[in-house]
Amino acid sequence: MERLQKVIAHAGFASRRKAEQLIIEGQVKVNGKVVKELGIKVSSSDRVEVNGIPVEREEPVYYLFYKPRGVISSVKDDKDRKVVTDFLPDIKQRVYPVGRLDYDTSGLILLTNDGEFANLLMHPKNEIDKSYVAKVKGIPSREKIRSLERGIMLDDGKTSPAKVKVLSIDKKKQTAIVELIIHEGRNRQVRRMLEAIGHPVLKLKREQYGFLTLKGLSVGDMRELTPHEVKQLRTLAEKS
Ligand code: URA
Repeated sequence: MERLQKVIAHAGFASRRKAEQLIIEGQVKVNGKVVKELGIKVSSSDRVEVNGIPVEREEPVYYLFYKPRGVISSVKDDKDRKVVTDFLPDIKQRVYPVGRLDYDTSGLILLTNDGEFANLLMHPKNEIDKSYVAKVKGIPSREKIRSLERGIMLDDGKTSPAKVKVLSIDKKKQTAIVELIIHEGRNRQVRRMLEAIGHPVLKLKREQYGFLTLKGLSVGDMRELTPHEVKQLRTLAEKS
């Protein structure tokens, strides 16, 4: 049995002092229940979570997944739809996605059981670029593209400047393929940005996450990250 704050700190989630603060603030659950007392001790069979993220006490594993459309970025779905973890090999670790991609979005998503790593990558101050390719309705004008590049007002605030490129246009079908690079990760952000300029998304794919691409993978494929890639991702997040 170990003290709860020690388990959280050992997992690399936070310093001992910060772990105590997380407990007091009600951000820690043991076996699904919020625990606010500092004295509590837990055993290896107790399930500890910080803000819904399981505290890592297993060998860490890291996967890159080419998510198909029609798959939920979650570990389970109450409507019994396919979830990203259905594609994992048979492993004993409890792995979950780093951030999310919409049900209808395909592309690159990471999965891990390393809570500290997931937190580091998802922290808003760690500005990791993500590249999306969208098929949109209509053909966006130069001025509309510029408004995305400047940052556009959405209902949850102005977006950071995006890098935007029109890759191709289909005049006959009145559609365009647009590449967008952003580092924020707000809910349905790319769809909302393109909707805001009057060009709703017909299809969306995340092609790149930092330096990671989908190269060599087919839709539905999962591969482990190399130790070097994990290290590089940490460095990328820490220096941004
Ligand atoms: N932006 C979106 O709109 N959807 C995603 O899945 C990811 C980013």
